[in-house]
Amino acid sequence: MNEKPEKFIDENGLRLDGRKIDQIRDIKIEIGILNRADGSCYLEFGNNKIMAAVYGPREVHPRHQQKATKAIVRYKYNMASFSVEDRKRPGPDRRSIEVSKVSREAFEKEIFTELYPKSAIDIFIEILQADAGTRTAAINAASLALADAGIPMRGLISSCAVGKVDDTLILDLNKDEDNYGQADMPIAMSTDGKITLLQMDGHLTQEEFKKGLEMAQQGCREIYELQRKALIDHYNNTQKEIIQDAPVESVKDISTESATEEDPIEDPVISDDVPDNGNTVNDDEIKEDIPDEKEEVILDEDEDNPAIVSDETEDDTLE
Ligand code: CDP
Repeated sequence: MNEKPEKFIDENGLRLDGRKIDQIRDIKIEIGILNRADGSCYLEFGNNKIMAAVYGPREVHPRHQQKATKAIVRYKYNMASFSVEDRKRPGPDRRSIEVSKVSREAFEKEIFTELYPKSAIDIFIEILQADAGTRTAAINAASLALADAGIPMRGLISSCAVGKVDDTLILDLNKDEDNYGQADMPIAMSTDGKITLLQMDGHLTQEEFKKGLEMAQQGCREIYELQRKALIDHYNNTQKEIIQDAPVESVKDISTESATEEDPIEDPVISDDVPDNGNTVNDDEIKEDIPDEKEEVILDEDEDNPAIVSDETEDDTLE
């Protein structure tokens, strides 16, 4: 573990990693990278590396957990043993059970669970590398994996933390700021501004709490814009791939799907005036190339079943 730094903010108002006090860490997003999951997202948030996978809506096992009127949401947060400096003991612990619970609650009200009674929506989080703020980074990744799985939601959930070091509020704490700071307050927020998660370690005055909440909400709005852009880019690329892979007929189908009565998409005009590039083959040449099948097949002499034909030739028949 690093030593406690003497100062977290220098005379220019910059933090130890060069960020301003209200600046979030860099975010990298890749959507839909797991083939077996219904939806997935790999997300880097500073030095945090997170994988999120979503399955469902699907059958509930064990069955006694199922709800007659809505889908249940399950959230499993797991830290890989190699994700932290000291090896983490594999398997669930008190911390991961707590993080799973509060993160599930951050999503439950945002998902239209009533559309899928008696089913389950499973969210799996693997922390591959941790550097403080893993629960917030994981929520950002889970939100995109849910969207990738096509789970109907009221909006995306975005999440980041605000904290206090050197008696100053800072946005999105890194490991040293989290370990040695005076406070850490992770929040999650829906697209329409509802707070769906709020926790706090340490102490803040009422004024600091209000100001900190505003800073974290601003951070969530920035993250939301990045999530939205990542989704749009992903679906633009997927659509292009589908069009490239599809046979010509279905490409035409996709392109005419959006036609309306007021704005019909006209059929492409197919002209007979194809310029002769020297490769043109006329119909008679094609006919000559087609072998006369009748010469190769011999009709079976079975009178009861005249439809059956045999492609045995005299040479092939073993006497
Ligand atoms: O990660 P988050 O800030 O959501 O949760 P935390 O409980 O405040 O943990 C802060 C950081 O402590 C984690 O991100 C890890 O980098 C580190 N940690 C660790 O080194 N070993 C653990 N068993 C748990 C956390």
